[in-house]
Amino acid sequence: MSQQSLSWLGPLAAFPWLLLLLAGACWLLARVLTQTYTLSEKYRHLRRFPQPPRRNWFLGHLGMVPPTEEGMKELAQLVGTYPQGFITWMGPIIPLVTLCHPDILRSVLNASAAVALKDVIFYSFLKPWLGDGLLLSADDKWSRHRRMLTPAFHFNILKPYVKIFNDSINIMHAKWQRLASGGSARLDMFEQVSLMTLDSLQKCVFSFDSNCQEKPSAYIAAILELSAVVVKRHQQLLLHPDPLFHLTSDGRRFRKACGLVHEFTDAVVRERRRTLSTQGVDNFLQAKTKAKTLDFIDVLLLAKDEDGKELSDEDIRAEADTFMFEGHDTTASGLSWVLYNLARHPEHQERCREEVRELLRGRDTEEIE
Ligand SMILES: *[C@@H]1O[C@H](CO)[C@@H](O)[C@H](O)[C@H]1NC(C)=O
Ligand SMILES: *[C@@H]1O[C@H](CO)[C@@H](O)[C@H](O)[C@H]1NC(C)=O
Repeated sequence: MSQQSLSWLGPLAAFPWLLLLLAGACWLLARVLTQTYTLSEKYRHLRRFPQPPRRNWFLGHLGMVPPTEEGMKELAQLVGTYPQGFITWMGPIIPLVTLCHPDILRSVLNASAAVALKDVIFYSFLKPWLGDGLLLSADDKWSRHRRMLTPAFHFNILKPYVKIFNDSINIMHAKWQRLASGGSARLDMFEQVSLMTLDSLQKCVFSFDSNCQEKPSAYIAAILELSAVVVKRHQQLLLHPDPLFHLTSDGRRFRKACGLVHEFTDAVVRERRRTLSTQGVDNFLQAKTKAKTLDFIDVLLLAKDEDGKELSDEDIRAEADTFMFEGHDTTASGLSWVLYNLARHPEHQERCREEVRELLRGRDTEEIE
């Protein structure tokens, strides 16, 4: 009986479904066509940039510039060949435009946020770690936080940090001296310099001394791990989709390190809020000013917007974690690059040394700010 009624209903019942299916297929086709059109329009504009030969159609230029000395030489050569800028492909469809010449960079760096949009691919990998901090946030949230953070960059707040940088560098130098006198003269500079910048940042952001240059620190190791995983993910197309990434061991390492880093920041913020509420703002500020130790967490805790509203704990964590990442990675890269080039060009090294001597002549090194 039921079979009979089904077969009788069959063609009629299937009809609306067929229509719906057809409509769906048409919609999908239209979407694919418009998307393809917009993409090809974009690609047409991009064709104006010169392009080094691809490795193959699928990988594009992926993996051509590995994060090694070989990669740096490769990059230097690319910049020499295409001094204005060039385009490379991360896989078959993701273009990456690299601008080299200052005249071209200037117009991009000076463009408004509405014109020069933030990256969406690499930054999305950072999101679970850094949250909505200054690096990843946009529009109103970015502007509000940027204004609230302005006091953090005041000269009087930054000045005492020079002593912290100096201490961190002295630790690094002492370590090199020990290693060199033990006969081991080969060092991975980026590793060494990264530890030094992380050490400095942890002291300036949290007033926390983990002694990470001398002995392993789980927190610092987690930040280095997160940075390494994010870079690796960027270079491997298969790790781009979240569901795939989270199934891999890299995904598990990333989540674990993320948890550890968040826990550290949360604990510092909790503790500091407690101190602030027991001491009251005035006493808190007085004690900090006397000790010259207003760190980044303090500035964030005390920050207020135009309406007198403070930052939430989540906001503070995002900004602190963001500065730990942005502050260490960029400075370590820049310093390593400078050291690398000074080592390769002794005549420039000598000129820099002369300039520093000239500036410091007759001055006490304690006075350097
Ligand atoms: C940057 O932009 C501002 C405002 O749009 C303009 O006045 C200024 O000349 C620009 N500077 C450079 C170096 O392009
Ligand atoms: C930095 O450290 C060196 C070596 O200990 C010391 O001579 C110098 O006075 C320090 N400078 C500052 C500004 O702390």
